[in-house]
Amino acid sequence: MENRKLIIDYAEYDSLAELPNDARQLMERAMEAARNAYAPYSNFHVGAAVRLADNTIVIGNNQENLAYPSGLCGERVALFSASAQHPDQPVTALAVVGLHNGEYCEASPCGACRQVMIEYEQKYGREMTLLCYLAGGKIRQIRGAKSLLPFSFDTKL
Ligand code: THU
Repeated sequence: MENRKLIIDYAEYDSLAELPNDARQLMERAMEAARNAYAPYSNFHVGAAVRLADNTIVIGNNQENLAYPSGLCGERVALFSASAQHPDQPVTALAVVGLHNGEYCEASPCGACRQVMIEYEQKYGREMTLLCYLAGGKIRQIRGAKSLLPFSFDTKL
């Protein structure tokens, strides 16, 4: 028997202004996208923006439905849309932000979105950088989705 530990490395920026230009631009696109979310049931709007290797930016936002499980998170709307439109372009970064009652707020990808992020990392053989907007306008930056969902589903087939 052996006890093992997992360590997650991440960085925190104090504000949007502190981010490198490409990361700040991506977060700003996610913030814009949050404004167009369709979230009449939760009233919690999520904006996401994906940067691809050729620097294309694809945005997404949560899309809800009266048949609740039919809705989809903003992150997956962005990732699936990017994959549908640019199947050969690796995803290099994903920015996520919440918007509630007109105020930007913290949002971090749910487990299902993390599973999807991991699969695109595997498909392209390349990690993505995740940027999450935090309370008070800070930004969390994590390199690679794998550490965010340890022991994720994998058939090894
Ligand atoms: N939501 C996202 O868009 N991303 C997440 O990572 C978690 C939750 C959405 C789903 C739903 O439309 C609303 O936020 C409230 O849960």
